[in-house]
Order: sequence, then structure tokens, then C-alpha cells
Amino acid sequence: MTNSMVSAMILSDLVMGRENDWSKLYDPNRFKPLTSAKDLVTQNIDVAKHFVGDRISVPKEESADDITEGEGRVLEIDGEKTAICKLDGAVHSVSATCTHMGCIVAWNNAERSWDCPCHGSRFNYDGTVIQGPANEDLKEVSLSDKKKSD
Ligand code: FES
Repeated sequence: MTNSMVSAMILSDLVMGRENDWSKLYDPNRFKPLTSAKDLVTQNIDVAKHFVGDRISVPKEESADDITEGEGRVLEIDGEKTAICKLDGAVHSVSATCTHMGCIVAWNNAERSWDCPCHGSRFNYDGTVIQGPANEDLKEVSLSDKKKSD
């Protein structure tokens, strides 16, 4: 609604030959591909760093028993990255693979959420999507069905 009003004002000023302060802001030629390309490349390098680096940096010697109250960690259990947290005495475990594009989530201790470092998706402690771009919850993982890496 707001954009339609602004565009109507800009167009009517163009037709009438008047200056409009917002016309530069909405100018379709304002896009500078070379300037934008630098940011695009930088952001994609960061995503690639997390996508690859987080897969090889998870310690394998830990088990869910090592996690203290209020803490969350990503552990490798039976070859799968598993996001495990302990809240109010209960252990919650979900897949650590972000449902957006597959990066590995990390525990946000302040918000008690699983946050994806690649594009900013956030998930509740139980894997429920809080904020996109991911629109699917993290898959629940049953620790009792899996052998814990002790
Ligand atoms: S991979 Fe894009 S938000 Fe997680």
C-alpha cells in the first residue's frame, strides 16, 4: 500500500515535470552490480566456510552426558551431526543440519536457540522454526535409538 502511494506521487510529479525527493531512491538504475558483487562474494565465502568448516570441526569424544543444564552442543552420533541441549533437566536432541541449505546450527546460549550461521535461521530448543529463511523444523532425533559416542 505504501509503495503504491509513493509510486503514484513520483509518477504524477514526473508527468507534471516536478522534482520529487524520492525519485532517486526508487530509480531502477540505482543498482550498482560491481558494488553489490563484492558483498555477494564475501557473504557466499562466509557461508561456504561454515558449510564445510562446521562439518569437520565437531569433536567426536563427547557424549550427551557431558552437556550441563542450560547448555547445547553439536555432537556427532552415529555419523550424524546432532544438536543436543539440556533444559530444565530434560535432554532435547534434533538434527544439527539446517533445513534451509544444510549448514550446521550452533547453540545460542543467551536465547536458548539453535542458530544457523549461514543465513540466520533460528530454531527453538526443540527444533521448531523461530525465524527463516528455513521454513521446516529441525528433524527430531531420538538418542535412545542411537548409540551415543562415549
Ligand atoms: S543454511 Fe541457510 S539459514 Fe541455515
